[in-house]
Amino acid sequence: MLDQLEAQAPDALLALIKMHAEDPRQDKIDLGVGVYRTNDGATPVFRSIKAAEQRLVDTQDSKSYLGPEGDTGFVDALKPYIFGKDATMGGRVEGMQTPGGTGAVRLAVALAKSAGVKRIHLGVPSWPNHAQILQDVGVETSTFHHAKADGTADIDAVLDAIANAAETDSILLHGCCHNPTGVDYSAEDWARIADALVAKGMLPILDIAYHGLGNGLDEDVAGIRTVLAKVPEALVAYSCDKNFGLYRDRVGAFYMIAKDASDLPAITSNANALARANWSMPPDHGGAAVRTVLRDEGLTKQWLDELGEMRARMRRVRERLAAADNEVPGLNLAALGEQNGLFAILPLSREQITKLREDHGIYMAGSGRINVAGLHEGNTPKFIAALADVTAG
Ligand code: LMR
Repeated sequence: MLDQLEAQAPDALLALIKMHAEDPRQDKIDLGVGVYRTNDGATPVFRSIKAAEQRLVDTQDSKSYLGPEGDTGFVDALKPYIFGKDATMGGRVEGMQTPGGTGAVRLAVALAKSAGVKRIHLGVPSWPNHAQILQDVGVETSTFHHAKADGTADIDAVLDAIANAAETDSILLHGCCHNPTGVDYSAEDWARIADALVAKGMLPILDIAYHGLGNGLDEDVAGIRTVLAKVPEALVAYSCDKNFGLYRDRVGAFYMIAKDASDLPAITSNANALARANWSMPPDHGGAAVRTVLRDEGLTKQWLDELGEMRARMRRVRERLAAADNEVPGLNLAALGEQNGLFAILPLSREQITKLREDHGIYMAGSGRINVAGLHEGNTPKFIAALADVTAG
C-alpha cells in the first residue's frame, strides 16, 4: 500500500535551511527559519539555561515517566509571565506541557474540535504550519487579511471575520510578534477584538511563540490579557523555543481557561486523552530547565537580561533597516521600525527573491519573509545593497 503514496513537497522553510547550509559562499546571509542570532550570527544556548541544565545533571535523580501533563512545575512557573498578577485567573486556568508550541497549537485545535468547533478563522499570511495543523486535525479554515499594504494591522478584517462567524467557530490569533509579518494589533485593536469575541460568544485560540522578543514580557502579552479579562473561555498555546532558546528541545505549554473552575477537570481530561494519543508524554528536559531558571531568582534575572539583550539587538536591526527606507524605495522599510519580533514581510516578487539567493547568497522564505535576527552590523549594508540591486528599475 505504501507505494500508492504521492510524494509531498518538502516543507519550504525547512528546505531553505538545507540550501543555505550547502551554499559555500562565505558572505551568505540566512534570513530564513525563525531562530535568533547574535551579532556574530550564532544561536548560542542561554547562559541561564546552561546553568539550569548543569543543576539538572547534578541533582536529577530519575527520568521516570511524568504523565501526559508533563512537568507541572514548569507549566505553573510560566503562568505569572503570561497571565499576570492573578496567575490562576481565579482558578479558571489549567495548563500542561507540550512538545513545542506546535504541540500546544495542535492540542488547542484538536480540543476545540472535540468541543464542537467546526471552523477556525485565521489571519493570513500566517505561520504556514497553522493551516497544515488545521487541515490535519480536520477543521475547516476560513481566512481574513491580517495586515494592510502600509505595514499596519487590518483591524477591520478581523472584526468582520468575527462578526460574520458562526458561534461554533473559533479564531486563531498570534499573541505578539506576528509570524510572518511582524505586524501586531494595537492596545485599542485588542480591546475591540475582545468585545467582538464576547459579543459573538466565540472561543479564541491565542498562540504566543515570541513572548519577550517584541517590546517586553508584560508589553507583549498586554493584548491577550485584555482578551482573557473579557472572554469566558480561551485556549492558549505557548512556545519557549525562542525566548529560552530551546528550539530543538521542543518546549511548549498549553493552557485552558474555563468559564468556571468546576469545568476544568472535564476539559483537562479531554486534553490529557488527546495528548496521550498524540505523543503520550512531552519531552521533559527543556521544561525542567525552564522551571529551574524560573524558580531561582539569580537565574531568572540572568534570563531576563539575556532576553532583554536579544530584544534590544533586534530593535537596533529594525531601526537600521527603517533608516534605509530611502535607499530602497518601494519596499516600505520604514514600517519595519514600528513592527515587532523576528519577522517582516518584504513585498518582493518570486524572481527578486530567487535573484537575492542566486546572485547575493541571501536566503529568505518564498513569501518575502525575512528573519531580522539574521542581520547584524556586518551584513546589513550588503543586504540593503542587494535589495537595491534586485529592485532597481
Ligand atoms: C519559523 O516560522 O521560522 C519558526 O517558527 C520555525 C518553524 O518551525 O517554522
